[in-house]
Parts: sequence; C-alpha cells; structure tokens
Amino acid sequence: MSTVLSDEKIPNNVNLSSDKRLQRALEAWQPQFIDWWKQMGPVGWQEKDIYLRTAVSVEANGWAHFDYVRMPEYRWGIFLEPKDPNRTHGFGDFYGQPVWDEVPGEFRNLLRRLVVTQGDTEPASVEQQRHLGATAPSLYDLRNLFQVNVEEGRHLWAMVYLLHTYFGRDGREEAEELLARRSGDQDKPRILGAFNEPTSHWLSFFMFTMFTDRDGKYQLSALAESGFDPLARTCRFMLTEEAHHMFVGETGVQRVVKRACELMKQPGGDVRALGGIDLPTIQKYLNLWYTLSLDLFGGEVSSNAADAFAAGLKGRYKEDRYDEHKLVGSHFAMDVLENGKVVHKDIPMRNALNEVLRTEYIKDCQRGVDRWNKTIKDEGIDFELKLPSNKFHRQIGMWAGHSFTPAGEMIDQATFDAKRGEWLPTDSDEAYIKSLMNPVYERGKMANWIAPPAKGINGLPGDFEYVRL
Ligand SMILES: [Fe+2]
Ligand SMILES: [Fe+2]
Repeated sequence: MSTVLSDEKIPNNVNLSSDKRLQRALEAWQPQFIDWWKQMGPVGWQEKDIYLRTAVSVEANGWAHFDYVRMPEYRWGIFLEPKDPNRTHGFGDFYGQPVWDEVPGEFRNLLRRLVVTQGDTEPASVEQQRHLGATAPSLYDLRNLFQVNVEEGRHLWAMVYLLHTYFGRDGREEAEELLARRSGDQDKPRILGAFNEPTSHWLSFFMFTMFTDRDGKYQLSALAESGFDPLARTCRFMLTEEAHHMFVGETGVQRVVKRACELMKQPGGDVRALGGIDLPTIQKYLNLWYTLSLDLFGGEVSSNAADAFAAGLKGRYKEDRYDEHKLVGSHFAMDVLENGKVVHKDIPMRNALNEVLRTEYIKDCQRGVDRWNKTIKDEGIDFELKLPSNKFHRQIGMWAGHSFTPAGEMIDQATFDAKRGEWLPTDSDEAYIKSLMNPVYERGKMANWIAPPAKGINGLPGDFEYVRL
C-alpha cells in the first residue's frame, strides 16, 4: 500500500489497500485533486478549523462523524452501499436478470457519459460557490457552505472511483478532464448550463441548494436504480449526503422569508428600507433557479432517456413504486409543442422519461414551497410564493425558444422582454442583494436579512464555534 494513499487517509469500503490498480490511478489523480481544491475550492478559509461531518464508514454510526478539520485535510473517502448478491435488474430490457458488476461492452459509452455528466456537476458547484465564504451571514451558515463543498468534492471522488475502476484508460482521462473544466469558463465550461451560472451571493446559494441540488437528488435516485451495480451502490450512498444540501437550501430560503415577514410588520414595513430581502425579490430568484434546474432534466421527449432505460442503466425515481418496469406500449400524457401550439398528448413512456422524472422533481419542489408559504402564513402575512410553469424561462427542451408567462401562457418575445424584470432578477436586484452581503463572523450573531436557524448542527447550540477564526 502506498504511503500517500492509506485507508486512514482515504476512508473506503472498496478494499483500496489491496487494489493495486486503483491505488496507482488514484496516486496520480489525488494530488491533482488537491491542487484543484486549493486553486478552485473555497477562497480564504483553507487554513481554518471547520466543524465538519466526515463519512468514515457506511454504518449508521460511521457516515456522519463530526470534528474540526482543515478543508485540504478533509478525508475524502470512497463508499458504496454494501452489495446485495441477489439484486436483479429492476427495469428495462434486462428486467429480472442479475445485475452487472462489470461494464457491459455495448453500453460502455452510454454509461461513461452518464457517469461523467453526473461527475462534472460535483466540482462545478464547488467552483460556483468558492467566493461565498467572504460574505457568510453567520458562522453556522459558513460551516454549512463548507460542508456542502467538501461533500461535493467527495461526490467527485465517487464518480472518479467508477471511472478509474471500470473504464480503464479513457476513464482515467475523463477523471482528469473533470478537474480541467471550469464553471463559467468560455473555452472549457462545465457540461450543464446551471453549473455555469454564477452563484454570487447567499440568496442564490440557498436557491441553488434548494433547487439545483434537488435535481441532483433525482438524477442520483434514477442512477441508484441502475443495473450496473457499482453505480447504483455509489449513488445510494451519495443520496445520504445530498439530503443535507437540500436542507441547507430549503431552511436557508425559509429563514430569509421569515425575516422578510418580520420586517414587514415593523413600522414602515418597507423590507428593503429595513435591510431585508422582500418577498417579490425572493420570488424572482425562485423563478430563476427553479427554471435553470428544470433544464437539467433534459429534453421532454428524449431518445437518450429511452436508450438508458432500455439498457437498464437509468431508471425512474423509486422504480419499485411502479407495477410495470419494461414500459413497452405504455404512454405518458404531457404537454408538447406542435406547429407552434401547446397540445396535451400521449407520448411513448420510454421517450417521456425525462419528463416523468421532472414531474416527480416538481412535486418535491412544491412540497418545499408549501413549507415556505406556511412560514409566511404563520407570520400573519398575506403573500404566496409560487413555482412558475415548467414552460417559463426554459433554455433546454421543447419550450426553449418560445416565451411563456410564469402561469404558462404563451406570449410573444416582445411581451416577455417587457415583463422580464418583474419575473426574473434585474441588475438592480442583483446589486441590492450584493449590497447586503456583509459577513457576520461573531459567534451566535446573524446578518439582518436572515432569521436564525431553528436549531444548530449535530445537536449543538446556534452559537457554537462552527468555524474557528
Ligand atoms: Fe453532489
Ligand atoms: Fe449536493
């Protein structure tokens, strides 16, 4: 076993200490990862002790081990859910047959693309969030940001493990490319649109972790059904971490909403004049990040989705909720665009699977928005946040290139342009939000534009020293 890569340094349940080939691949990649982390990871906090959760084993008491750690010394590990020797394909053309432990030759390229596309989102979000440590509203939030960042780093490790172990030389090349692309870069951008958008302040960070990380949950859930067993087992473990990211987003927005309501009830009641973020502005950022995230599910009618399902590589969200798993001859009723008009139509189910997954995602988002609206109601304020139509402000799929209102009504481009500033953040909204982003690093203190959290992390009080300054 190499001195660089001990089981102690890289916690794992993949027998790293006896896998010479994986060790050699990781020996070359791990220093590049650390260079990338130092260069593109959180700016300004690399030498500080942060109270972080580290996964040291997959057992219930091992996946959430809390302690102070400096981020470059974080133990990024490799964990797969334990193998079920009797597992069979849960869907697609191979339904009922034993799952694969090696990559099936005929689906190699398709599978590699799925792994690389998922893998690319992980370092991308770290890059998008790298400057946020300069303006955190509290030490509690600062810690949560870094927790999300190191775990996205670990998710990158998870995908790189698959590339190194199952894809030989081109897998190693793809693993290097994952560290070479840069979010928002003109020449070498990240693969998917939302992962090239700037996350330039904390409202966008909370919206990102609410909506974009939630896309991650649904993509991982679909891959967790995979008949390529190592991918399924990897994604299942990643989902345990993803839950915290969405918690950060949902409760983050909820606290901004709560503070807006509190300020509305103060004399004058002008939220901006009182240094908060008003509810209509929150709605605009919701519209922006939700629609960017809807795009991540891909085209409404997709032969790629059909191919991945047929091959048993990417299933539906919680496949075992369904009775029928081959989807030959069944249909999905959905809106489509025909001759410039919206019509409701039956689409062959396999081709509609992106839309099926997006529909599950939308329901999940709605549950979160309902909880925000409950906060508003509990504060005695008459206002409702709404998810816009899935046709509004789309860049990918059949609604891209056409204009719709947030209510889903088709309009012409000129009308959209005239209304844009009411529906989506303007430059002046962005400048206003940024003007609020002054760091608060005193223990237990909170920026004026956000309410404190209901409770601390790991059962600790809100004024715990989550980051040692
Ligand atoms: Fe992730
Ligand atoms: Fe995440």
